Amino acid sequence: MKVTVVGAGNVGATCANVLAHREVCNEVVLLDIKEGYAEGKALDIWETSPINSFDTRMIGSTNDYEKTSGSDVIVITSGIPRKPGMSRDDLIATNAGIVKSVTENVIAKSPDAILICVSNPLDVMTYATYLTAKKDSRKVMGMAGILDTARYRSFLALELDCSPKDIQAVLMGGHGDTMVPLPRYTTVGGIPVTELVSEDRLNSIVERTKKGGGEIVNLLGTSGYYAPGAAAAQMVEAICKDQKRIFPVCAWLQGEYGMKDIYLGVPVKLGKNGIEEIIELDLNDAEKELLENSATAVRDVMAVLDKMDVVV
Ligand code: NAI
Ligand code: 2OP
Repeated sequence: MKVTVVGAGNVGATCANVLAHREVCNEVVLLDIKEGYAEGKALDIWETSPINSFDTRMIGSTNDYEKTSGSDVIVITSGIPRKPGMSRDDLIATNAGIVKSVTENVIAKSPDAILICVSNPLDVMTYATYLTAKKDSRKVMGMAGILDTARYRSFLALELDCSPKDIQAVLMGGHGDTMVPLPRYTTVGGIPVTELVSEDRLNSIVERTKKGGGEIVNLLGTSGYYAPGAAAAQMVEAICKDQKRIFPVCAWLQGEYGMKDIYLGVPVKLGKNGIEEIIELDLNDAEKELLENSATAVRDVMAVLDKMDVVV
């Protein structure tokens, strides 16, 4: 299996490092527009191979897409990250142009690849990837739900002083402050979380999760990358190893949850064919309302993109 990661910055390099460390594939190509940058990151990761004991080959490339030829999975992390005080939506014009040209270049060399977009604003950049790639929507998806759910699960683990491994959860909607963590679908070792955490504490953890990206931006001065990179790598692993894992993924809806022609975070089954199934939960009225609010926020940004005429 061959995986290309476009953008050798914080998220892309972290993703490539996790892919190599976990021997998810035989070869990782890291590509960036900055001269020598991807080559440097790829070499540095390769130099950890004797220590971390892996043999996944690392190739760096300065904008030479020939090296990405025949990739099975492509992760797009190229773009500019959010700075303090900047909303994800502020990023739209710059990142849409970058995502469009990168998608054209990777598709030309790897027409059968599955594409995972990471660039922000996530749901709408995934839409831009889909419009540009003109591929089956099951093979074009976005990463956000695994990250947002991981934040939610990690905060719950702190609250309960338990292992995050035992916390399972579903989180839906767009990658923004309107995301919808679902306590009704959250369990701790099989026990509903609502039996272990008070409503007040649960609400405050849900709120912290929604603002989880901003919390890191405020601390670091740029967006997080350890968790986002690991989350993208987990999606790649599910595809490369045909694991049929159930994850929240940004997927193109065609009637599911009563929505059409929108990229939104929903639980899916992820395997070698990409999104093999979109799982429809029986949401209650309050949950449906939250999901619809989130979809409205995503549609607003989609409309901005459509008006800009950057991607046609
Ligand atoms: P970064 O600035 O560290 O890395 C971005 C890299 O993209 C840079 O090395 C830059 O040279 C490269 N790049 C820019 N234009 C390019 C082009 N045309 N072709 C190839 N490479 C190009 O940024 P970071 O922190 O890695 O974030 C990357 C993106 O991921 C941002 O849009 C950020 O907002 C987003 N993000 C999304 C998350 C999610 O949950 N979906 C989580 C965290 C970040
Ligand atoms: C994050 O959630 C900013 O989308 C980025 O960390």
